[in-house]
Amino acid sequence: MTAPILRRLADLRALTRDWHLNGEVIGVVPTMGALHQGHLSLAEAAKTACDRVIVTIFVNPKQFNNPEDLANYPRTEQEDAKKLAPYNVDAIYVPDPDEIYPDGFATTVSVSGLTDAMEGEFRPGHFDGVATVVAKLFLQTQADRAYFGEKDYQQLMIVRRMARDLDIPIEVIGCPTVREPSGLAMSSRNQRLSEDGLAIAAEKHRIMRAVVQALESGEEFEALASQAQADLLAAGFNEVEYLQLRCAEKLEPMTHAKRPARLFAAALVDGVRLIDNLPVSPV
Ligand code: PAF
Repeated sequence: MTAPILRRLADLRALTRDWHLNGEVIGVVPTMGALHQGHLSLAEAAKTACDRVIVTIFVNPKQFNNPEDLANYPRTEQEDAKKLAPYNVDAIYVPDPDEIYPDGFATTVSVSGLTDAMEGEFRPGHFDGVATVVAKLFLQTQADRAYFGEKDYQQLMIVRRMARDLDIPIEVIGCPTVREPSGLAMSSRNQRLSEDGLAIAAEKHRIMRAVVQALESGEEFEALASQAQADLLAAGFNEVEYLQLRCAEKLEPMTHAKRPARLFAAALVDGVRLIDNLPVSPV
């Protein structure tokens, strides 16, 4: 069954008020649309654990530091609604832009520390845009649980911090990255890759897994990182923005996998920026 598409906050609030009055647990899956299996796995996880599920679709201009990237972002609302039909979500919230950023909107939610490196360094302002829109979506949906993919692991940590710091009563749940059979992490950006680009992109996962294996057998990160960067360029990536080992909780840089860690990478192929991360078990 196709879920109703709501565009006005008042309509969403009318629904959630009744659901809460009935004691139902509400889950939210925030997205920017162009849904793929990764998003659908979040809807599925939410539907399994919650009585009601809202999927939000909003291409948030405030988190794009590159206007071309914003203009090229796929917008596929009708297809998205069809893809969600088998998951029996209860509402699709596609807010009109003025429901998120009304005239004169002047507030920014900014999380310090966790936002300094990696995506924060290469996409200035990106996480302020994410934290601001996610705070609004949490408050607008009044959800009890929110589902995010671990593919955007830094985002997940930032959103969790923001909700705790602002006492927003919501549990932020991270779900495993969904991958293509080639190992490539699913992303709406993959649609922009050529056939050659897709083959190159898949190499990233193989190269990152080799680094994880070496870290888990006690090797030091620096030498592995130089080799892996060279391997990524040799595989056909045009640029490697970063390849970093950081602790899984506070995202502090690490030289060895002595605590639970994650290996993070961002690299460009076909002019498309692809990010990924893998868990690293402590030695
Ligand atoms: O991960 C995304 O798609 C976006 O950053 C999010 C969380 C929906 C906020 O716009």
